Amino acid sequence: LAPKRLVGRRVVLTAGPTFEAIDPVRGITNSSSGRMGFALARACRQAGAEVVLVAGPCAQPTPLGVERVDVTGARDMREAVLAALPGSDVFIGVAAVADYRPAAAQEHKIKKSGAAMTLELLPNPDILAEVAARDDAPLCVGFAAESRDLDRHAEAKRVAKRLALVVGNLVQDGLGTEDNQVTLYDEQGAHPLARASKDVVAREIVARIAALLAH
Ligand code: C5P
Repeated sequence: LAPKRLVGRRVVLTAGPTFEAIDPVRGITNSSSGRMGFALARACRQAGAEVVLVAGPCAQPTPLGVERVDVTGARDMREAVLAALPGSDVFIGVAAVADYRPAAAQEHKIKKSGAAMTLELLPNPDILAEVAARDDAPLCVGFAAESRDLDRHAEAKRVAKRLALVVGNLVQDGLGTEDNQVTLYDEQGAHPLARASKDVVAREIVARIAALLAH
């Protein structure tokens, strides 16, 4: 049985992709299975935490004992996170949030013509950076999926977003796969973990979070 490292703690997570509507049948999204975020929600629950999981559209089953809030776009995800945040000790942003959304979603399906088409995009809110910048911010954890220079980008992200912990991986090592090879970045430096299943990786992340909460 997993040690109950998070008893009495409230954890809010985001997971999965977001979907930004263009019209009733089309949209912009990111490829994310939701597996890592759901594994982490399960590990937090098994460690004794009260867990709220704000999930974008994905096909993962809800872990036992986890409160799940389903959302679509980044702005809905932000609202759900802010609503769940009061009283939380930890916020973990695992979601692959779309960086941009269409300036206006069309009410009716856009008809094709032979002409070129331009779609105006607006930047989405950075949910994790906003939560971490609050005066009453919980301990904040982010993910960095990079295609190269992982150490540099992950550490830069940790400092820029004011995070206690960043979980970094090279996209070629973990996207859409069953297992993952990640490195944990905190104030003490970089800690590479062995390649393992997402459940095992999630338990190691929980252990690190519990250690950070303790000091
Ligand atoms: O800056 P980048 O998108 O690479 O940062 C990734 C981290 O920030 C992840 O933890 C992700 O969940 C979070 N994020 C967010 N809102 C965004 C973009 C990223 O919460 N709009």
